[in-house]
Amino acid sequence: MAPKGNDVIVSNRKLETILSMKGGKGEASYANNSQAQAIHARSMLHLLRETLDGVQLKPPSDEVPFAVADLGCSCGNNTLYIVDVIIKHITKRYEASGYEPPEFSAFFSDLPSNDFNTLFQLLPPIGSSMEECLASDNHRSYFAAAVPGSFYRRLFPTRSIDFFHSAFSLHWLSQVPESVLDKRSGAYNKGKVFIHGANEQAANAYKKQFQTDLAAFLRSRSKEMRRGGSMFLVCLGRTSADPTDQGGAGLLFGTHFQDAWNDLVQEGLVSSEKRDAFNIPVYASSLQDFRDVVEANGSFTINKLEVFKGGSPLVVDQPDDATEVGRALANSSRSVAGVLVDAHIGDQLSEELFKRVERRGTTHAKELIEQLQFFHIVASLSLA
Ligand SMILES: C[S@@+](CC[C@H](N)C(=O)[O-])C[C@H]1O[C@@H](n2cnc3c(N)ncnc32)[C@H](O)[C@@H]1O
Repeated sequence: MAPKGNDVIVSNRKLETILSMKGGKGEASYANNSQAQAIHARSMLHLLRETLDGVQLKPPSDEVPFAVADLGCSCGNNTLYIVDVIIKHITKRYEASGYEPPEFSAFFSDLPSNDFNTLFQLLPPIGSSMEECLASDNHRSYFAAAVPGSFYRRLFPTRSIDFFHSAFSLHWLSQVPESVLDKRSGAYNKGKVFIHGANEQAANAYKKQFQTDLAAFLRSRSKEMRRGGSMFLVCLGRTSADPTDQGGAGLLFGTHFQDAWNDLVQEGLVSSEKRDAFNIPVYASSLQDFRDVVEANGSFTINKLEVFKGGSPLVVDQPDDATEVGRALANSSRSVAGVLVDAHIGDQLSEELFKRVERRGTTHAKELIEQLQFFHIVASLSLA
């Protein structure tokens, strides 16, 4: 249930308590609108496996399981699929080197408002033998646990995790930078709900927030990762050096979504101040923005850092069907940003907003199919 719609999202504490992808299994839920992420993740599996090949295997011990953590796991099948790939790959590496594989722990971590119930209902039963698990997708070969909390802080005990994975999550900032919502500041993002096409100061405030957050993420992981461990990170990226050009994220949150907010203002349903007090806490980073932080942190060796073309966030059966494209745009933006919109203007106005996103998406279907592309930053890092 979304909080009542009179919240202005400023502080990181507040955002942490409400941010989640849309839970449950309904039409606009994340579980039903994350096929694009699934496709993009599968196209990067070779990079994930390369990173897993770099993890140093220790002789298995009866007392210490091999520990995997997925950060920003959300509530769909994607996290279960990826954890399975990771554990099967490490198991095969153990077998190839003549060792009996160790036991595995998998930690599914996200903010406390994540729908962990839906996630754990999707979790397959634990298998009775490794052979059974390897032979079938209906069994898991690991002990599962949920870890609620922000990945911008400590989540695990010192030197307790062998492999960290995080996909499509680190572009979520810990907060909307305060200056962006402050009328007296040059960074005030007047008239806008995202930084795509915003003024330079607003964009720089977002960039600074992203880099501060990523630095905090790396500090925590550098304490939690075991020696010989690695991590594989994927988040929204951009190809332009200019942060006011947010690429695919700009088209998702800065164009039709922005126009839909403007519709609500023009129709007198929402005041312009209310609109301006809402900003999407997402930043699609450039490679350089990301690299600067990893290098300044100094705890990790960069095995790979690249921008990867992921494809469209819209998965439709019939790209020529404008209605289907419009609905996919509305469901896709709602599944990720709906909870924040509900919290800001309430469920009813949120419904109106996404109706307008759908309408605008239907009108611009051809252009959306042709132009809406996501690029991702892919980072493979090992403890230095
Ligand atoms: C688009 S979903 C990605 C889900 C999943 N990894 C996948 O591949 O489909 C992004 C997730 O990041 C989570 N997230 C955002 N900020 C976070 C934070 N500070 N700490 C932990 N999780 C966060 C959100 O709650 C959301 O579940």
